[in-house]
Amino acid sequence: MNDREDRDTTATVDSIGRAFMRRLLAVPEGRRFMLSITVDAEEGDESGVFDQLAECVDDPVLRRVVMTHRDDEVRHASLFRGCLDRNGWEKVEVPDEMRVIREVADGAEPQERTITTPEDIVTAYALLLVIEERGVQRFGQIADAFRPHDPETADTYLQVARDERGHVRYCTRIGRHYAADEAAWDAAVARARAREGDAFGRVGVATLSYAHDRGWVDTGALLAEFSLPSA
Ligand SMILES: [Fe+2]
Ligand SMILES: [Fe+2]
Repeated sequence: MNDREDRDTTATVDSIGRAFMRRLLAVPEGRRFMLSITVDAEEGDESGVFDQLAECVDDPVLRRVVMTHRDDEVRHASLFRGCLDRNGWEKVEVPDEMRVIREVADGAEPQERTITTPEDIVTAYALLLVIEERGVQRFGQIADAFRPHDPETADTYLQVARDERGHVRYCTRIGRHYAADEAAWDAAVARARAREGDAFGRVGVATLSYAHDRGWVDTGALLAEFSLPSA
């Protein structure tokens, strides 16, 4: 595939993603499910990565950045839980295959799960960087799709997306600081991007079929919008 075809494919996938989100969030069950997915993602630090990073990051200024980042994610989760509450909804259980942070972590080698060396810090921050970038890209789309149904939640997604932009800068700053050189940082980011891209694709397909099975989204009509045959 040449560069142009590559860009066209990315643009089509992006448009399908937006169209899917509009359809999913047009139904209350879809909005509740999306908020539940988001809470899980914001609370996704199950293995305590930030606490491990805070232990390893020896520079006090950078250690404060790690803690601010951790505290922001806790606050984000409570903002999204507030959106569920305002709608009178309990968070629903999200199946594992739709929990993107877990999917990304599942692709990790066992030795990558504990953070002790500068290389571990670089690997962890490269992964956090690509996850944050995905948040920045997706939260704007999710906000647009929420807007007609629940403008307050739409605003929450935009507010959180602003913080995630700051987190992208945190990740780059700390990752570069501990990388042996610029090439080592770029290589770590490229590896993380590949792993996160695979996980994001798997989660996307799982979510599409979950929403289809429950009658929230007619995927046949969605794909027909893009002149694609349904599977
Ligand atoms: Fe967040
Ligand atoms: Fe973040």
